[in-house]
Amino acid sequence: MNDEYSKRIEVQDLTETPPIEEPARQYFFMAKARQYVQQEQKRLGRPLTAAGITFGCQMNAKDSEKLIGILEQIGFEMIEDESADLVFYNTCTVRDNANQRVYGRLGLIHSMKKKNPHKKVALCGCMMQEPSVIEKIQKSYRFVDLIFGTHNIYKFAELLVTMYSSDSMIIDIWKDTDKIVEDLPAKRKYPFKSGVNIMYGCNNFCSYCIVPYVRGRERSRNPKDIIKEIEQLVSEGVVEVMLLGQNVNSYGKNLDEPMTFAELLKEVEKIEGLERIRFMTSHPKDLSDDLIAVMKHSKKICRHLHLPLQSGSTRILEVMNRRYTKEQYLALAHKIRAEIPDISLTTDIIVGFPGETAQDVDETIAVVKDVAYDNAFTFIYSKRTGTPAAAMPNPTSDEEIKKNFDRLLKVVQETAKSRVGRLTGEVHSALVEELNEQDASLVSGRLSNNTIVHFPGDASLIGKIVNVKLLEAHGFYYIGEISEKSS
Ligand code: 5AD
Ligand code: SF4
Repeated sequence: MNDEYSKRIEVQDLTETPPIEEPARQYFFMAKARQYVQQEQKRLGRPLTAAGITFGCQMNAKDSEKLIGILEQIGFEMIEDESADLVFYNTCTVRDNANQRVYGRLGLIHSMKKKNPHKKVALCGCMMQEPSVIEKIQKSYRFVDLIFGTHNIYKFAELLVTMYSSDSMIIDIWKDTDKIVEDLPAKRKYPFKSGVNIMYGCNNFCSYCIVPYVRGRERSRNPKDIIKEIEQLVSEGVVEVMLLGQNVNSYGKNLDEPMTFAELLKEVEKIEGLERIRFMTSHPKDLSDDLIAVMKHSKKICRHLHLPLQSGSTRILEVMNRRYTKEQYLALAHKIRAEIPDISLTTDIIVGFPGETAQDVDETIAVVKDVAYDNAFTFIYSKRTGTPAAAMPNPTSDEEIKKNFDRLLKVVQETAKSRVGRLTGEVHSALVEELNEQDASLVSGRLSNNTIVHFPGDASLIGKIVNVKLLEAHGFYYIGEISEKSS
């Protein structure tokens, strides 16, 4: 696959004017950037290096794979270290602490850049879609060379060429787009599993959330392109895909020939050689009976559903604009558990939303106990400029919020622990992902229900799906051993 991209770059005639249409235009600029990198390498007598630092969610991780794919085709040697000749930061802005981490890193990179003026620094991702952030960077971080947003990452090669031929900061931010550019290189982090975008953006406008403002309106990819990409991945050795979208349950609504997410899953299931299908994220309001039926009868869809609750108080859910009540959420969770008893349910919860009281948090805790989540990500509410919630008064003190948060966390941990332990003694299939970080005689694998199991094994098992007997539960993971028997 990489060779194919490389060939497309090699045949470019740089004496011509750049093509207008995409992705042809980007192959022209990849060739141009490649020429620059080769000249620089000659001049310096060493390879040109690049590093990518990624914050945030799976979408950002996937975007970074695309950016790294382009950098590698251009001829950069990717390294892990920010001392590289070119460093990009793919940023997140869902909560303020993500922003603060980026500013912290920029402080560090500034001193590195002072020692090496040829070093280039690029910023991209969700944070860059906020005008106030751009203003701050223009004012206080003047050494940044390139800024682009979430809608034009496919233009990275072209932007790099512009950056290398200019001395001033290049800023290219689009407010929104309906454009989806296919057929560009990507460098996968894992050879055996991969994220696959099925849609971009979000139309839900939950009142606390900045995502619809920074990722734009919902756009679904054509199913044929999705299937083609997965078939290609499988031919390269991928056995597990994670279908990615902010709200996968509303997939396909804006296609010329509308298609539901359940229908897409049925098509993906047919791909021979693909063993496991995951997806992220589901909005409870759009989760259909058809989807539950498809999951129930599927041999490949993993037994895991991430179903963000956000709050267990109907009053708060309404102000959050979540468009379901506590009762509707509970009915859905019970239906899923009844139809697919071996499924694991995980969730996201926000504590400290404007006006939330201790009684509201009691209701959330009651839902956590009732659903008995296998895991839950709990966040303290972070005010995001421009969202409706940012204008809502919040009389609850930080101290109270922290208290509520700790109460919730305790229950979340207790339920998760008792849920994880329930498979002890059983044999389940696990996809081996890596050598164990602490003990190299162990490998770490992931069960269909997303729980991690560590067991004796070596690197030859990585990427394989094996049967593992789950011997002991330790908090959120198991210790196991390879088993001949299947479950
Ligand atoms: N403050 C705290 N958490 C938030 N999330 C989204 N926006 C905010 C915010 N302003 C959480 C939600 C979402 C997850 C990805 O991040 O729980 O599901
Ligand atoms: Fe944000 Fe709500 Fe869209 Fe999720 S569904 S990305 S929480 S607006």
